[in-house]
Parts: sequence; C-alpha cells; structure tokens
Amino acid sequence: MPRNAAGLEIKSTDELRVMRRAGLVVARALREMAAAALPGTTTADLDTVAREVLASENATSSFLNYDVGFGIPPYPAVVCISVNDEIVHGIPGARVLADGDIVSIDFGAIVDGFHGDAALTVAVGDVAPEALTLSDVTRLSLAAGLARVRPDVSVGDISAAVQSYIRAAPARYGIVAEYTGHGIGTRMHMNPDVPNLGRPGRGQKLPVGAAVAVEPMVTLGNPGTDVLDDGWTVVTRDGKVACHWEHTVAVTPGGCWVLTAEDGGEAILTAAGGRYAPLGD
Ligand code: MF3
Ligand code: CO
Repeated sequence: MPRNAAGLEIKSTDELRVMRRAGLVVARALREMAAAALPGTTTADLDTVAREVLASENATSSFLNYDVGFGIPPYPAVVCISVNDEIVHGIPGARVLADGDIVSIDFGAIVDGFHGDAALTVAVGDVAPEALTLSDVTRLSLAAGLARVRPDVSVGDISAAVQSYIRAAPARYGIVAEYTGHGIGTRMHMNPDVPNLGRPGRGQKLPVGAAVAVEPMVTLGNPGTDVLDDGWTVVTRDGKVACHWEHTVAVTPGGCWVLTAEDGGEAILTAAGGRYAPLGD
C-alpha cells in the first residue's frame, strides 16, 4: 500500500470504494443497534445484533481481539457500548439499559482488508435535556470537522473546527484530549492522530486518497478521564455524562466522502458547508 512522504497510507479510487463497502456495513450495524437500544435491552444484546450484521455482510470485526499490549486483555467484543459517564471503550455485557441512559455505540468492520469505524450516541427513553443538547453539540462538532475535509486540508484545520464548534456553544463543555481520531485504512488505527483540539494549519496535510476517523468525545463537566479495572472502559473522572460521535471520511478530488454515512455525508456536509464529493459506487 503506497504511503506519501509523511507516512500516510494513500488509497486508490478502487480501494476507497472497498472502504465504502466497509463503511456501509458499519452504518447498517449502527442503525440496527440504535433501534435496539431500548429500556430492558442488555449491552450484550447490542453486540449480538452487530455480530449478526457482520455475518450477513461477510465482514469481520475491527474491534474483536484488538490488542494494545501492556498486559491489557484483548478486546472481547465487536462493539463498544459506553453508558452515561462512560466516554468510550465500554465492554458489552449484562448491563441492562434503562430509561434515561445516554448510550454511545462505537463499531468497526473490515471488508476485503479495509476498515470502517463510526460511532453515535442514542437516548434511551427520557433523557435529561442537557445530555440531549450535549449529544447534539458533539454530533454537530463532528459535522463541522468533516466540513473542512478536502484535498490538502491539515489535521489542525479539522481539530480546530471541532474545538471551535464546541467552544461556541452556550454551555461550557469538556473536550476529551487523551483520546483522538486517527488515520484508517488497512488498519483501524493509523497515522495521523486527529485530536479534537487544535489550531488551523498545524499538523500533516491530507492529500486525495487519505482517510481518517474524526471522533469528538465531549463531556458535561471536566474533560479528565480514568480507565476502569477492566483495562478498557474510559470514564469521566468527575462522573458527568459524556457523548461520542464518529465517522470515517476519505479525501476525494472534489472534497470528501463520508464512508460510514448511509448517504455518503451529503446531508451533514451540505448543512455544515462542506464539500460532498463521492467517488460513485
Ligand atoms: N472505535 C474505537 C476507536 O476509534 C476503537 C475501539 S477500541 C477496540 O478508537 F479495542 F475496541 F477496538
Ligand atoms: Co475510531
């Protein structure tokens, strides 16, 4: 797989079309899990839904058995489910979703060797209005970041757009700095990191054929994090609610293509002033 001088993996048009197939599997699984996230559902039930989608699409999991080393056990599920004060990397299990929970669902799939990775946040039943607003701000900060993506955008342009959107909101939120978005392609996590705080013009430039996952994690309180004893679950240190939204986006000659959005990003890019430029399937 070719890399540019900065070490970024550069995908051909045909390779981006394969990544689009992975992205559509991710979109379908997230849609089905979001619909299943009702009071009384366990987080393990959502993992089962996702495994069924993978099987029916002949895709494999980006997450299952993911190994970060350091004596942390390999990741045991195909999805991350993070409830309330959990920010990311929550492990599905016996936990029963209850009215009032706000739940982020993060999923990755591999098709023909290429990864797609995306996340969304759903409300279970009646959720506190400030948590719903937090989810909207997080989702729209992702849209603001994606709207910057075009040939030779710098990583800092994306980061700064995410940060400024959150900082322009009427309430003061925490922007998680210890976890970031990332390059993606033949591996889930690749160069470069894509932080959710940054300055325009800084960092690497993304040429046509680059692909990144942009994933703001925003909290109702302070941005500090802790990791639970399971080695994975990242929580807010102050116990306040967090939200997480993510898409995989590719740089195309006319702008970008949101590979994990069912419509390729047309709606969010149009609304946020971005350049929707799919390559066609
Ligand atoms: N989607 C997460 C990310 O972008 C990855 C989940 S961690 C895993 O960082 F171990 F489950 F893969
Ligand atoms: Co990711």
